Amino acid sequence: MTDLSQPVSQPGAQVQSDAAAVVPPPLWLLAELTYRCPLHCAFCYNPLDYTDHNRELTTGQWLDVLREARALGAVQLGFSGGEPLVRDDVEVLVEEAHRLGFYTNLITSGVGLTDQRLGDLKAAGLDHIQLSFQDSTQQLNDFLSSTRTFELKQRVAVALKRHGFPMVMNCVLHRYNLPHVDKIIEMALALGAEYLELANTQFYGWARENQAQLMPTQQQLEEAEAVVARYRRTHGERCKIFFVVPDYFERRPKRCMNGWGAVFLGVAPDGAALPCHAARGLPGLTLPNVKDMPLREIWYDSDAFNRFRGLQWMKEPCRSCDEKDRDLGGCRCQAYLLTGDAANADPVCDKSPFHDTVVKIVRRAASGSASETGATAAAREQPILFRNDANSRKFAAAAREPDAGGDNRASPGVQS
Ligand code: FES
Repeated sequence: MTDLSQPVSQPGAQVQSDAAAVVPPPLWLLAELTYRCPLHCAFCYNPLDYTDHNRELTTGQWLDVLREARALGAVQLGFSGGEPLVRDDVEVLVEEAHRLGFYTNLITSGVGLTDQRLGDLKAAGLDHIQLSFQDSTQQLNDFLSSTRTFELKQRVAVALKRHGFPMVMNCVLHRYNLPHVDKIIEMALALGAEYLELANTQFYGWARENQAQLMPTQQQLEEAEAVVARYRRTHGERCKIFFVVPDYFERRPKRCMNGWGAVFLGVAPDGAALPCHAARGLPGLTLPNVKDMPLREIWYDSDAFNRFRGLQWMKEPCRSCDEKDRDLGGCRCQAYLLTGDAANADPVCDKSPFHDTVVKIVRRAASGSASETGATAAAREQPILFRNDANSRKFAAAAREPDAGGDNRASPGVQS
């Protein structure tokens, strides 16, 4: 077993940039193996124009990424996507990751997780599996993913426990399924999940396009939190329940990614290195690629990873704020999406001059559908936009048009 307290040495690793002396190494590598996915979730965080970035790294290139990341000091490794299991080399990658000393997690919809693959992944050394559900009911699970996968997920949950894997069940929460939180917890308990992650929707990517339909009300959140608290008291020993509160309802922003370029290193299917899941959506940020540059150089020296690292990039009101060390200015992607400038304070913060934008979105969500009028009602009545290749190609085409200005948030006549 590798000593995880020290970065693994490798030929050439002793040559480090000055930045390496002060910047800690990445701890968490997220390998987004592919954007291909059998599901079409309305809240997917993948980029809208993912079809323009689908030239996937080869097995050999991914193996190099794993070795370089481990040499840098990364210890946690998530394999995600899209659906990582659409690739047939996951077992090979897991085996090498295990040999290198990573703690490995497969983040999956369950589609493709056959008994054979579960056995092979166990033999390869996979540590645990995060299985997503969209709801506790077949109707809503299948509607929100635009697939018939609910029963399959149930079977996969049973099978992965049979193979001895610890299970994190993940369910993204929103306006439609927040009233079902008790049933979702019951389902997790019945299936023997050790952990349940109830992650309220973060409004990036496809979720941002569906924000009017997915945004919950304050009352829904408070009721769900009370349910979670009750189950924690009665079943906290059997299943650890995480409830991730949505930012929009807070007055201080989250310390997104635990700091830009601080612990998280993502690699997209095409090899683009990501300081956060949604970084591809930030204009003016050129993402370095693992095909062109060693991971060490990407982490310590690239503009993308240094752009919002630490505190020096901050403008007012963050620059003089006595809380800036705690939240690091919040989320850069949210700042861009809601204010048009990624270097602004996250407008979730009530010290931000743009905080009113967030307040208005929350107020709109709270207005009952019966009393809704105008744009709010119209937005909510729009059909949900599902993540699929046809819709993505339209976003990609719109983003490539000069007039679109690269803002791929404009819905270019996409179909639900
Ligand atoms: Fe990109 Fe928060 S999601 S910085």
